[in-house]
Amino acid sequence: MRDRRDERDGKHGEKQVCSRRAPRCVAYRTFPATGSMPERSITPLIVVALLLGTWLALRSIESSSVTPASVPSVPVIVPGMVPLVTGDEPITEIFTRAGCAVCHTVPGIQGADGRVGPPLLLGATGPARLADPAYRGHAKTVHEYVIESVLEPGLFVVPGYPAGTMPTWYGVKLSALALEKIASYLERQGAAAAQ
Ligand code: HEC
Repeated sequence: MRDRRDERDGKHGEKQVCSRRAPRCVAYRTFPATGSMPERSITPLIVVALLLGTWLALRSIESSSVTPASVPSVPVIVPGMVPLVTGDEPITEIFTRAGCAVCHTVPGIQGADGRVGPPLLLGATGPARLADPAYRGHAKTVHEYVIESVLEPGLFVVPGYPAGTMPTWYGVKLSALALEKIASYLERQGAAAAQ
């Protein structure tokens, strides 16, 4: 016996092929030709979504640049929070372990985007600190100035930044090797910008 099938339109615009022998129907959808109704109504939706996305992106850039740089909340760092830094760690780890990254922006150190203290561009700013009439320290080179700033931050307070904020106990947390590496790294930062 020949299987009799007939085609009819289903409820939701799909076609149905039904078989008499096994009474069941298989539904399939017919896709509308290009430019027909559904596609035309989706295009404006895409445009609206794109515009909305652009607006949100612009808004978030704006709000982050509006963040007041001059009044950051001062993070409290106590000795118990900082492990001993031996100097054998990779340079990024030296800065992040010691907590410098929380307060300072350091070029090339991921996550070091703090704004409590000055950006550490000592290659550019170091010579000016040593020449500052208010400088009372003993450093003769930028390298020495960095080490001195870490061990005795109160000796010279960078104008425009809060005194008594940088921890004074780094001498017991950082090995001589760690201090050397910090100084060697920082004295090179921003040097190009100084010229
Ligand atoms: C709790 C915040 C804080 C932490 C943590 C901190 N500093 Fe500072 N630092 C400051 C502030 C504020 C100043 C500027 C005032 C001053 O000179 O004391 C400063 C100044 C400095 C200066 C002098 C910068 C210049 O432009 O002359 C150096 C160098 C420095 N810090 C290095 C470090 C290093 C390295 C570490 C980590 C081992 C560190 N700081 C951790 C807050 C911090």
